Amino acid sequence: MPQARGWADYYEKLRDRPPRRTLVAALDAFGAAAETPADALAIDLGCGDGRDIVEILRRGWSVIAVDAEPEALRQLAARKLPGAERITPIVARFEDVPLPLGVQLVNSSFAMPLCEPERFHDLWMRIREALPQGGRFSGQWYGKRDSWTGRAGMTFLDRDEALALLDGFDIEMFEEEEADGVTPRGNPKHWHIFHIVARKR
Ligand SMILES: C[S@@+](CC[C@H](N)C(=O)[O-])C[C@H]1O[C@@H](n2cnc3c(N)ncnc32)[C@H](O)[C@@H]1O
Repeated sequence: MPQARGWADYYEKLRDRPPRRTLVAALDAFGAAAETPADALAIDLGCGDGRDIVEILRRGWSVIAVDAEPEALRQLAARKLPGAERITPIVARFEDVPLPLGVQLVNSSFAMPLCEPERFHDLWMRIREALPQGGRFSGQWYGKRDSWTGRAGMTFLDRDEALALLDGFDIEMFEEEEADGVTPRGNPKHWHIFHIVARKR
């Protein structure tokens, strides 16, 4: 796992990139920004310096911003985003953070795989339970052909396992991406990613 300096470099490199399309699709599926209820609440697990939080706020939602790295939340605060008063920052591992009742969207972009398999399943069960009917999950899980497979403390799923975990959800996006590329830090990597948006039945 990269250390804090590594994540700080990552935040710097990806600063000002647009929000993840899984998040945008989930927000779009909830309806137009003008229709966002005053109590609309999201939680962003592994939010980094807030690439997705910019958009969550722009759509009028409140958001609980969770990241294990204090530097992530420090950089998020330093952005002084419009609507920042609607952010509740929490420095914690997402495996440990309580998921509050009333959360309608759980977003976790490129972060949930950074969790060991036993805790991944427990975390996913807690996400399922926390979401109300009609609530959504958006984010990425990693597939087993990813070149990072086997790294300690990370979770990789095959397609059937991923789909089985989504039982009880209407799947609004399930895109499997597999390609050679480079990481944001410039290292070659074979990516195997599931891009997911799902609505609890
Ligand atoms: C690849 S970055 C993604 C950041 C952001 N969500 C994005 O889409 O750009 C992963 C983030 O997850 C955080 N993270 C990794 N493991 C975590 C854990 N167990 N609990 C909370 N945050 C974690 C890291 O500190 C980092 O900010």
